[in-house]
Amino acid sequence: MPSSDVIRFAAVGDIHCTKDSSGTLRSVFAQVADAADALLLCGDLTDYGLPEEAKVLADELGAARVPIVAVLGNHDYESDAQDEVRRILADAGVRILDGEACEIEGVGIAGAKGFAGGYGRGALGAWGERPIKQFVNEAIQEALKLESALAKLRTPDRIAMLHYSPIVGTVQGEPREIFAFLGCSRLEDPLIRYPVTAVFHGHAHRGCPEGKTVNGTPVYNVAMPLLRRTYPDQPPFRLIEVPRPSATERAAMPATTTA
Ligand SMILES: [Fe+2]
Ligand SMILES: [Fe+2]
Repeated sequence: MPSSDVIRFAAVGDIHCTKDSSGTLRSVFAQVADAADALLLCGDLTDYGLPEEAKVLADELGAARVPIVAVLGNHDYESDAQDEVRRILADAGVRILDGEACEIEGVGIAGAKGFAGGYGRGALGAWGERPIKQFVNEAIQEALKLESALAKLRTPDRIAMLHYSPIVGTVQGEPREIFAFLGCSRLEDPLIRYPVTAVFHGHAHRGCPEGKTVNGTPVYNVAMPLLRRTYPDQPPFRLIEVPRPSATERAAMPATTTA
């Protein structure tokens, strides 16, 4: 039974559910139901972004029996059917965040997919050809989505969810040549302006499971293949505990505007 003074969040990304995944994920989600009060899914929920894959996942998620919040990943866009993928999962009770915020038992959750572009001095700048500017603008827009979601939250604890990594630390382990396609330090800026309790992301299957933002916030890469490889004796999700706000604290919180 979950302890009453904490809320336990299980997080995992990069499930890459296929049409053949039926029956293979239920046991993981049943373990989530035993271990956590809520499940956070960090993108690449499906392998090719197909509605059939989303239906399989929606069915498997029935075993989780806790509130589920998700962001989409690049794979969920592959077939240009992301709106239907989103609808199928929403119909199954999954709350999908794309620059929005929500609350679970008084803990704020802000989510966006994020985008690529690289880190620090190596980050791609909006200069030169129009396609380069469009690429960089996509990353800027995703960072703004995360920022506007975080700005809506008034809860004492806040969690940020992304698919792409906001820091280079949790992509270490991948080939250096692809670091710039695994995330972008523009995504870290909102996490400095609006500090959070923890950040979860996926996408870097061969990255590093833990890192920190420049202001010391823990960042967890929860890509399922990485968790399976790094912690072979544990269920493939990351668990964190957040203090449960008291009834008095919750009554005093301004409502989160979930536009
Ligand atoms: Fe992935
Ligand atoms: Fe991905």
